[in-house]
Amino acid sequence: MSVSLISLPYPETALEPAISAQTLAVHHGKHHRAYVDKTNELIAGTSLADASLNSIVVAAAVANDTKLFNQAAQAWNHGFYWHSLTPNRSAPDGALAEAIASTYGSAEKLCDVLIEQGVGHFGSGWAWLVADGKDLSIVTTHDAGCPLADGNKRPLLVIDVWEHAYYLDRKNDRKAYLTAAARLLDWNFASENFSRGEPWTYPS
Ligand SMILES: [Fe+2]
Repeated sequence: MSVSLISLPYPETALEPAISAQTLAVHHGKHHRAYVDKTNELIAGTSLADASLNSIVVAAAVANDTKLFNQAAQAWNHGFYWHSLTPNRSAPDGALAEAIASTYGSAEKLCDVLIEQGVGHFGSGWAWLVADGKDLSIVTTHDAGCPLADGNKRPLLVIDVWEHAYYLDRKNDRKAYLTAAARLLDWNFASENFSRGEPWTYPS
C-alpha cells in the first residue's frame, strides 16, 4: 500500500470562475501529486510503508522528521482542501450552526475572520477552521503545518494560502482569491468533521 493521489471530488472546471480549471489542474496534478510521490519515496522500506497518511503525518510530527512531515502533511492538507470546497452552495446547520452563531455570530462573520487571517498570514501556509471539542477557532499554519500534529485540534475546513493556489488566476491578490474561495466552502463537509469527533481520514 502506498499513499495515493486522491481524485478531485468535482470536475476541474467546477469551481470557475473563483478558481480556474488551469489552476486546479496544476495544483492537483502537479503540486499535490509531487507531495504524494515524495511521501511514498520517503516511506518506502520503512516501518511506515503500509501506514495510512494520517498515521504518517502524526508519526513524522512526533519523530520531528521535518523532511517527511513536510511532504506527508502537504499531501494530507491538499486532500482536505479539495474536500473543503464545493461548487454546490451550502450553509452550516445543526450543532455546527449553533457553535458558529455563539462564537462568530454568523457564517459570514466567520468567513470575514478567515479571510482576514489568511490575508495577514506571512508567506506560504493554510487558513483553517478547527474545533477543540465543541470550541471553534480559526488558525493559520506555516508551510506544511497541519492540525493533525496538534492532537487537540480537529480540522473542519481549510483554504490553501500558498501562492500556487491563486497566482495563475489572481497574481498576488490573495484577498480576492480568499474572498472567492470562502464562498465555495463546503459546510456539509465541515459539519461531518465537527460531529465525527475525530479528524477526517485521507482516503487510501
Ligand atoms: Fe497548495
